[in-house]
Amino acid sequence: MNGGHVFGRHSAAQLPKVVAGDDVWLIDSAGKRYLDASGGAAVSSLGHSNRVVLDAAKEQLDAIAFAHTGFFTSDPAEQLADKLVSLAPDGIDRVYLVSGGSEAVEAAIKLARQYFVEVGQPQRSQVISRWQSYHGNTLGALAAGGNRWRRAQFEPLLPSTMHQIDPCHYWRWGGPDESAFDYGQRVANQLEDKIIELGADTVAAFFAEPVVGATMGAVPASEGYFKRIREICDKYGVLLVLDEVMCGAGRTGTYFASEQEDIVPDIICMAKGLAAGVQPIGAMLCSVKIYDAIAKGSGFFQHGHTYMGHPVAAATGLAVIGEIERLGLLENVQKMGRTLRDALDARFGQDPYVGDIRGRGLFLGIELVADKETKQPFEPGLGLNKLIKKAAMAEGLICYPFGGTVDGKSGDHILLAPPFIIDETHVEMIVDRLDLAIATAFAQSGVS
Ligand SMILES: Cc1ncc(COP(=O)(O)O)c(C=O)c1O
Repeated sequence: MNGGHVFGRHSAAQLPKVVAGDDVWLIDSAGKRYLDASGGAAVSSLGHSNRVVLDAAKEQLDAIAFAHTGFFTSDPAEQLADKLVSLAPDGIDRVYLVSGGSEAVEAAIKLARQYFVEVGQPQRSQVISRWQSYHGNTLGALAAGGNRWRRAQFEPLLPSTMHQIDPCHYWRWGGPDESAFDYGQRVANQLEDKIIELGADTVAAFFAEPVVGATMGAVPASEGYFKRIREICDKYGVLLVLDEVMCGAGRTGTYFASEQEDIVPDIICMAKGLAAGVQPIGAMLCSVKIYDAIAKGSGFFQHGHTYMGHPVAAATGLAVIGEIERLGLLENVQKMGRTLRDALDARFGQDPYVGDIRGRGLFLGIELVADKETKQPFEPGLGLNKLIKKAAMAEGLICYPFGGTVDGKSGDHILLAPPFIIDETHVEMIVDRLDLAIATAFAQSGVS
């Protein structure tokens, strides 16, 4: 245990100290091994000791660690951008490399705004997103997000040009006689209503996570939802920004999560799995139309960060994509995703307190409820998700439980996002340890 001067997320004194990583395992200073079944927060997609990736980072450090992008470009940055564009949906043509997810989202907000200034529509300054989404913690990204708990104390600082519509989560919000498709269309149409309410020519962009991660626990939208969203954006000239910071980079079984929605966004945000946690990196990808508007207009995107296009981060990201391809890991994500999903269904499907098991690929969520029939969440004061996290760590399992699943306050879910390299034995361990952790947390909170 440590308790020094680090101003961390929580009091450092409560946390074990990590000293090593081995395959899918994290090892603390007491030698205890934790199966990393959430990759932290869906970050460590290749586990913790991929030699090829670690060597790529070291080689780049030896060649040139950093040169400011105001003066130089670099091979790793150029090659990573080329590679991402080759994988991205048609029309996505440019890559803006930053250092994390919030930076990617900030860049997207500002690019959407500047695009409309460049094309002579400066009245477009409003941004719409969804309640219960998470787009990052910097002020712009926080304002674009829809998690009330994260926003609450900063609300006075958040711009009034950011607006939210409902999320798309059929299991919780679908009507009793409504099909998933009809529900998806109904909530997608809220975007049109909101655009009209704000003034059809004042909206710049709509932001959404294709699979909602941290704040809802791996919730994909209903079939047809994103197609309808794309139609509405096209109708009103609004840019569609998909935030794939958590669900992208292979996590759902395709390199881009939006591939499974069969739509092409105007802007994609990525981070986390892009360099699998070996280096901090993020990326904002945009269409040729947006890039050209700026290139042929002012010629300068009024943005930038010191560490953008960092050569070591870019070399690492490139190596991660190389390993995903060399080891056929998208196939393993699909296969092990099904195996893990089946194992979760088998173990927890009949549990009276497990309301929903959902997700895509190796991005799965379990939502806990006090009453399966009514979907009534547990009393937030129980702190169930925190107890599960602690009990799981005691069992040697890293998972990502969180609260506020329903409305930012109540609701508990557990997010699983294990490395793409897991096999059946890991799946068994994850399910066994999670089962024990949930039982311990229930016992501690008096739920029988
Ligand atoms: C969907 C999404 N967008 C943005 C972010 C912010 O990324 P970062 O924490 O790297 O700033 C996150 C982080 O969890 C995320 O899940």
